[in-house]
Amino acid sequence: MKIRDVKLGLLAFFVLAFGSGSSRAADTIKGGELYAVHCASCHGASGISVMPNAPNFAQSESLLQPDLLLLTSIKNGKNAMPAYQGILSDHDIMDVIVYLRTLN
Ligand code: HEC
Repeated sequence: MKIRDVKLGLLAFFVLAFGSGSSRAADTIKGGELYAVHCASCHGASGISVMPNAPNFAQSESLLQPDLLLLTSIKNGKNAMPAYQGILSDHDIMDVIVYLRTLN
């Protein structure tokens, strides 16, 4: 491995770990943890829904809406799905949405 590659690797690490500042990038790891706690009981650990009528996140068609619409549905709840307003912050929900988009 060349010295230059090591430097670039370190730079990438610091940018990823500390670089995002106040407008921090969405956190898929945190999103995945929140998903496991709050969502997997109906939507399935890997996004293959275990509850009838719950969308299957392993199929990308279920997530064709923009993030903002998904955020609203999750905050307000929808039919059999509970509302998460007051349980999860908008920021937490955005982390979960970014995680959802990794499932298909
Ligand atoms: C009690 C079971 C249950 C839990 C828990 C649950 N959901 Fe749902 N979810 C549903 C059902 C059922 C629907 C389908 C609602 C409908 O369209 O009738 C749904 C729909 C959705 C949709 C699609 C909304 C739309 O507008 O099409 C998203 C996105 C979603 N859920 C995300 C989540 C996330 C993220 C969590 C965890 C924070 C979660 N759900 C927790 C049952 C659940």
